[in-house]
Amino acid sequence: MALTPFLDPLHIPRVLRPKKRSKDVTYYEVKMEEFFHQFHSELPETKVWGYEGQIPGPTIEVEQRECVHVKWMNNLPDEHLLPVDPSLHSSGEHMPQVRTVVHLHGAEVEPDSDGYPDAWFTRDFGKCGPRFVQKVYKYPNNQRPATLWYHDHAVGITRLNVYAGLAGMYIIRNEQERALNLPSGRYEIPLVIQDRTFNDDGSLFYPSTVNVVDPPPNFPNPSITPGVAGDTIVVNGKAWPYLNVEQRRYRFRILNGSNERFYRLSLDSGQQFIQIGSDGGLLQKPVRLDELVIAPAERIDCVVDFTNQPVSTKIVLKNTATTPFDFGAPPDPETTGLVMEFRVVERTGSDTSSVPQFLSTIKRFDEGDASRIRDITLDVTTDMYNRLLFLLNNRDFMDGITENPIVGDVEIWRIINPGLGVHPIHIHQIQFQILDRIPFDTDVFNLTGQLRFTGEPEPPQANERGWKDTVQAPPGFVTRIIMRFGPYSGRYVYHCHILEHEDHDMMRPFDVVPRRWVRVKKSDCEMCSEAPDVCMNNCFTMIKF
Ligand code: C2O
Ligand code: CU
Ligand code: CU
Repeated sequence: MALTPFLDPLHIPRVLRPKKRSKDVTYYEVKMEEFFHQFHSELPETKVWGYEGQIPGPTIEVEQRECVHVKWMNNLPDEHLLPVDPSLHSSGEHMPQVRTVVHLHGAEVEPDSDGYPDAWFTRDFGKCGPRFVQKVYKYPNNQRPATLWYHDHAVGITRLNVYAGLAGMYIIRNEQERALNLPSGRYEIPLVIQDRTFNDDGSLFYPSTVNVVDPPPNFPNPSITPGVAGDTIVVNGKAWPYLNVEQRRYRFRILNGSNERFYRLSLDSGQQFIQIGSDGGLLQKPVRLDELVIAPAERIDCVVDFTNQPVSTKIVLKNTATTPFDFGAPPDPETTGLVMEFRVVERTGSDTSSVPQFLSTIKRFDEGDASRIRDITLDVTTDMYNRLLFLLNNRDFMDGITENPIVGDVEIWRIINPGLGVHPIHIHQIQFQILDRIPFDTDVFNLTGQLRFTGEPEPPQANERGWKDTVQAPPGFVTRIIMRFGPYSGRYVYHCHILEHEDHDMMRPFDVVPRRWVRVKKSDCEMCSEAPDVCMNNCFTMIKF
């Protein structure tokens, strides 16, 4: 069924009201519910899951350093809306099919409020996962003003819960940023871009199987696939919407909330985007770009100036990115190649906003700051059912800890991609900086495991020189990022943000460990009297003090 593009107006998610506000804490309650939502006026209503009955969820707006508590409440039915693959770890029969846990993506929070995949809970907290600790999550917002987003992160079904609708925006502000006088109020608009496929009756379509050569007889049904891209582009919960824009500047906070699809955005008026911010907040200075390439989970904060566009001009926001990115099929120019339309109308007052040439100070890390370098390889293999399986360092989510940075330490991670596609790699708790991308010989690497560089390091693009929590790791490159771990110690995850990869099984736990652990001898053996530092006989114990 072909839907008419640009028929429905853009919906702007409403801002969530707190339940209670005291001078110390702002308290919210957010319910996850099943309800019907109309994605397009030519489409019957769609059964979805969302926060507070909305798609996307309501926007949470906070001040920097405001102490925010949120009770995330699961009021969902016991049966999933979408096909659950029982073969993924933790999705078997012993597990409740519908489980949820909320992650605030890009936020610096304690582990117990981070939405660890095993910290899930069912309806009314009836059942809780092994890492569930508390019902109310604490967000100190002790970080730069930024465009964050919250979404579900339950182990084994994140892709389904997010596709069903569990995602929303979270914006941190402060006085300093307000003083910049960027477009604000009605002229500052979040754009959550997602893709979906609908059945004729309006219901959500999510594939329940995958084509596999020689499937074994016990092949899982339903089965996860290596990635899901929809045929309909949805912005703020409406398929191909339009927005009336006055002849003035607008600030758009763009989030790619899609499972797999990347977007390469451009304006058919030939206008440029003025990018002012990335995942972790404002850039140092604005960057003018003809195109924006945005991977799943990335955010681009940008200004578009419609001042000189004649009234009633129609400007289409287009997408030219291939799926899978960047080796798959190009989008259909009539459908997935379209995102939304801007219709220029007369200005209602003067535009007093500005885009200052200096936005914020970003102190770049120095490579010399790093106390450790780790390699993270993006592996492609097959699972026991012959299905494509993506891993990090050839380990799955249930394997033991291999990354354990110390609080306060700076580390460089080299993300090695010897495969075909671009993977958006996300690390919890921290924001990082991109050092460079170095080309290497993938054939040599795949045969011998040796890294042979084939060219000079490519510095990050101008719009990648700010704070990031998700980085595009292209094939044939070692993407180097640098970050300081902390301030909290405890268990977090890092993973690919293509949600079908994350669930199967491109996600790893890591521990941020307190600095002051010492090795203390608890007994003696022959080996430790000779060479204590190589003793493997467990005569030492680690003590925190
Ligand atoms: Cu946006 Cu671990 O996720
Ligand atoms: Cu991936
Ligand atoms: Cu010993």
